[in-house]
Amino acid sequence: MSHSIHPEIERVLISEQELQTKIAELAARISKDYKGRTPVFVGVLRGCLFFIADLMKQLTIDASIDFICPSTYQGGTKSTGVVRLLLDLRDSIEGKDVIIVEDIVDSGLTMTYLLANLKTRKPRSIEVCTLLEKPSRRKAKVDVKYSCFDIPDEFVVGYGLDYEEIYRNLPYIGVLKPSRIKK
Ligand code: PRP
Repeated sequence: MSHSIHPEIERVLISEQELQTKIAELAARISKDYKGRTPVFVGVLRGCLFFIADLMKQLTIDASIDFICPSTYQGGTKSTGVVRLLLDLRDSIEGKDVIIVEDIVDSGLTMTYLLANLKTRKPRSIEVCTLLEKPSRRKAKVDVKYSCFDIPDEFVVGYGLDYEEIYRNLPYIGVLKPSRIKK
């Protein structure tokens, strides 16, 4: 898939090279900030999968990985941000330095919920790391320490992000053709 643009993609917003360059810079920054510590990277499924993998491969510090899977909003809960966990962490994070890893912070409601939930488990520290942010759609204030790209309010897929569960495996972030999106 990496050599030609997918026929349902209107244009590439962030190329594979741009993604990898920015992720390498972020890994260097995190490695510096957490020198001498062993943070737990908590990936938010499913969108985080390529980002967390590429990011962690570039770290120069020791780190562990765990995953959490919040439900997607359904039945009109998007505006309320009502989220529940479909899959919880395997290990305790008490006393640990936690870095939550997301593909995108959009309204911020999912992250607000995750932060509130994980903070009750007494981590030593907790920070947010996201590949993408859509600042224009933010509803809840979220303190995002590590962020790679601010993007406009367009329907993006690829590199972990889906539309109807497809396109996650594209190696770039692309804008989906409007004709592909069901009304
Ligand atoms: C996406 C993304 C975040 C959330 C962000 O997940 O991965 O978890 O939405 O939106 P918010 O800031 O408006 O809350 P999605 O529900 O699409 O699930 P996925 O990761 O499995 O694709």
